[in-house]
Amino acid sequence: MQKTLKIRKFAILATLSLLVIAGCGKKPGQSGKADSKKPMTAVDSAATAAKVPFALKEGKRLFSHYCAVCHGESGDGSGQYYGLTPTPANFTDKAFMKSMSNERLFKAIMEGSASVGKSNMCPPWGKSFQSEELEFIVLYIRTLAAK
Ligand code: HEC
Repeated sequence: MQKTLKIRKFAILATLSLLVIAGCGKKPGQSGKADSKKPMTAVDSAATAAKVPFALKEGKRLFSHYCAVCHGESGDGSGQYYGLTPTPANFTDKAFMKSMSNERLFKAIMEGSASVGKSNMCPPWGKSFQSEELEFIVLYIRTLAAK
């Protein structure tokens, strides 16, 4: 119980700081449609992420090193561990990514796919990364469906 709460808190914090990073990219006074109440789409956040090249570069590096073996270099789920059942999530699938909140992504990554009611094929990564690194990975993953 304690642990779940802690992780929850962390996920919220992580998401908040993600929003802060996103906010920094905006010019003051620029309050066009993108800032309205509409939920952020993968495309929006990809555009935002493009403004934070360091985070993206780091995210890409970590993703290539730790995740691409299953999820594929391009994130489409076609890593070299072919034949995994179920297949690794496809981060280039716009509909799938749209259906995934940042909280959900953080939880799945930190606690593994089993924690979100899926198979146990995606291991928990929460202890492998600093919170900042996890944010970088999520930012990077969010850009993959935009291409
Ligand atoms: C051993 C292979 C493997 C590695 C390495 C791996 N994944 Fe996965 N991942 C999977 C599989 C398989 C699924 C699909 C699980 C399912 O649908 O039951 C998945 C699913 C996911 C999902 C979607 C979970 C959901 O809610 O549907 C996310 C997000 C994810 N992985 C992120 C990552 C990240 C980030 C890394 C690297 C830090 C990573 N994975 C490394 C195999 C892997």
